[in-house]
Amino acid sequence: MQKEEYRFGFDVYSSSNELLPEDAVLVEAARKVTEKAYAPYSQFQVGAVAKLNNGETISGTNQENASYPVGICAERVLLASASMLHTDVPVHTMAIAYHNLNGESGHPVSPCGMCRQYIAEYETRTNQPIRLILTGMEGKVYVIEKASQLLPLSFGSADLK
Ligand code: THU
Repeated sequence: MQKEEYRFGFDVYSSSNELLPEDAVLVEAARKVTEKAYAPYSQFQVGAVAKLNNGETISGTNQENASYPVGICAERVLLASASMLHTDVPVHTMAIAYHNLNGESGHPVSPCGMCRQYIAEYETRTNQPIRLILTGMEGKVYVIEKASQLLPLSFGSADLK
């Protein structure tokens, strides 16, 4: 028997004012695009904005449904658009912000498990890690260099071979 250990580090900024200018621009755009969420059931509006390797910017917001499980998260709306509009172009950095209309929006939240799985496969298929910037409408910002670090021991396409 041997023990394995998984650890990763990430950067914590006390506010978006401390970010690199290009990251601050993405954060502001993600906060702004939360307005485009369709979240009448949760009132939890999520906005994601990504910069692609080709310089294009893509955004997504959560899209809910009266049949609750039909709803889709902002991250997967974004990546599905990127896949269609800029097929095979790696995503360099994705900023994710949220506006909780029923509560506070001052601490970062991180992607749900389903989105982690989707993001991890996007990294694999485009052969490039995705940088994540996580934040609310104000307050701390987390920067994670490889999104797949959030999903250790993940199941992926290689397992199906
Ligand atoms: N949601 C996202 O869009 N992204 C996340 O990372 C977490 C959760 C959405 C799903 C649902 O519409 C609402 O937020 C509340 O869970």
